[in-house]
Amino acid sequence: MSDFQGKTIAITGASSGLGEHFAHRLAARGARLALLARRTDRLETTVEALRASGSEAVAIALDVCDAAAIGPALDQAEAALGPLHIMINNAGVGGEGMALDMTPEHFDQTFAVNTRGVYFGACEAARRMLASGVAERREARIINIASIAGLTVLPGLTAYCASKAAVISMTKGLAREWARQHIAVNAICPGYIETEINAHWFATEGGQKQIARLPRKRLMDITALDDALLMLAGPAAAQITGTAITIDDGQML
Ligand SMILES: NC(=O)c1ccc[n+]([C@@H]2O[C@H](COP(=O)([O-])OP(=O)(O)OC[C@H]3O[C@@H](n4cnc5c(N)ncnc54)[C@H](OP(=O)(O)O)[C@@H]3O)[C@@H](O)[C@H]2O)c1
Repeated sequence: MSDFQGKTIAITGASSGLGEHFAHRLAARGARLALLARRTDRLETTVEALRASGSEAVAIALDVCDAAAIGPALDQAEAALGPLHIMINNAGVGGEGMALDMTPEHFDQTFAVNTRGVYFGACEAARRMLASGVAERREARIINIASIAGLTVLPGLTAYCASKAAVISMTKGLAREWARQHIAVNAICPGYIETEINAHWFATEGGQKQIARLPRKRLMDITALDDALLMLAGPAAAQITGTAITIDDGQML
């Protein structure tokens, strides 16, 4: 299937986990991919694999904490692949720590990646979608990867939960601001999927007990978000904006 043929998609945090997985899924449907993260060696490996299977892809170094670097990184993506249609703000860090142990530096780092990075990622993407006419053609999509953590509170993850709750809020706010310009802004709130962000925790006894307490006693597959992502990236989202879709295998129940 090639429903994203000719569409340029930028994914932050594409060097591992969900971002890397999304890149493969979207490339298989014809998209041109700009992969952004700090570990460019990992991005290059994915780009090579995507090119080997006939896709267009580029690796671009980006630390999303550096808000001033986001626009130039997207310019690089557009120079290589053409106007940006879809921005996936996926980069994230765990931000673990009991409140009383949390340093201001760790708190700021958590928010700089998970929250500020998403905000300016969305703004820089929207600027380009408006300038290129992609928004006017009603093809502009911004997808923010939030978390079920943004819908609840979890001990030892207060900063992370707050950073993700802010993503859900800004998704709605930006969707409202850009509604008339036809930029669809939506979020996905995933439940637990084993990736580098949490593998260390799920390998512990405490992590295994947490899995045993989940209604289905399992983590989700990395493919669990695919259909929601494709829907929010595609034509259906012409009339979906300001939504946060929870996909959690019942983990919140
Ligand atoms: N896995 C889950 O259970 C789960 C559940 C809910 C939500 N999420 C969210 O899903 C997103 C992806 O996480 P994941 O599970 O795929 O974890 P992951 O494998 O650890 O991926 C995190 C990605 O974020 C990037 N990143 C971190 N700091 C960055 C920075 N300063 N600048 C640019 N990129 C940065 C990392 O790339 P570099 O280190 O190379 O920069 C990496 O590619 C995150 O937003 C996470 O909060 C995950």
